[in-house]
Amino acid sequence: MSNLLQIAVLIGSSRPTRIGPLVAGWLTGNLESDEELLDARFSIVDVARFDLPSFNEPVAPRAVENLDRFTHAATRAWNKEIARYDGYIVLSPEYNQGIPGALKNALDFLHHAWAGKPAMVVTYGTFGGGQAGQQLRQVLKDGIGVRVVDITPQLEFPGRDERKHNSSPALSQALAGTVTKDTLDYWKETNGREIVDGARELLRLAKQPR
Ligand SMILES: Cc1cc2nc3c(=O)[nH]c(=O)nc-3n(C[C@H](O)[C@H](O)[C@H](O)COP(=O)(O)O)c2cc1C
Repeated sequence: MSNLLQIAVLIGSSRPTRIGPLVAGWLTGNLESDEELLDARFSIVDVARFDLPSFNEPVAPRAVENLDRFTHAATRAWNKEIARYDGYIVLSPEYNQGIPGALKNALDFLHHAWAGKPAMVVTYGTFGGGQAGQQLRQVLKDGIGVRVVDITPQLEFPGRDERKHNSSPALSQALAGTVTKDTLDYWKETNGREIVDGARELLRLAKQPR
């Protein structure tokens, strides 16, 4: 058995042309190569892969302590995966100033698998996705009882042009499912340090009892 802390990096978007997997891969690569974070293993968890329907469990997840009591196989598979981890990095884009509906739905499906564990929120968007981040923090912390790291990195698409409704080439590329090296380099320079600091805090919390 490995003594490494097990941390899930959740991909919060599910549309076919999403950049979520690219951002998650970049984020995870940065975390894995940082010598301050060698006591953890970071695993990407694609929420979309679990194919969860709109919430359809008859009993509120807070009342389900034993995963065998979930009615549906999809919920049991989702619970089994999430319960494996000591902590989470929830990576979310901003959709209409909030989090994607599919991510909120996936969070609602479970309670005990998350509750009391730590999470860091990382968002991306035209202005860094701060409103999605705020919403996500509230759902995780106040709704589910997750211990949320204060540091909340916001990855902003570079080159925003106010005269063009804050559009940017990076945003157009993102809408089409692409992230360029320039954008990743910009995020590394702007947010690299806080991502590592946030992850260190996440690991510190993960070592404390639930
Ligand atoms: C339905 C929809 C709504 C969006 N709303 C916002 C928004 O409110 N704020 C923002 O910064 N970006 C917004 N965007 C742009 C996203 O930040 C950008 O498309 C990003 O690539 C979405 O993440 P994804 O590719 O992983 O789905 C929106 C995109 C979509 C598809």
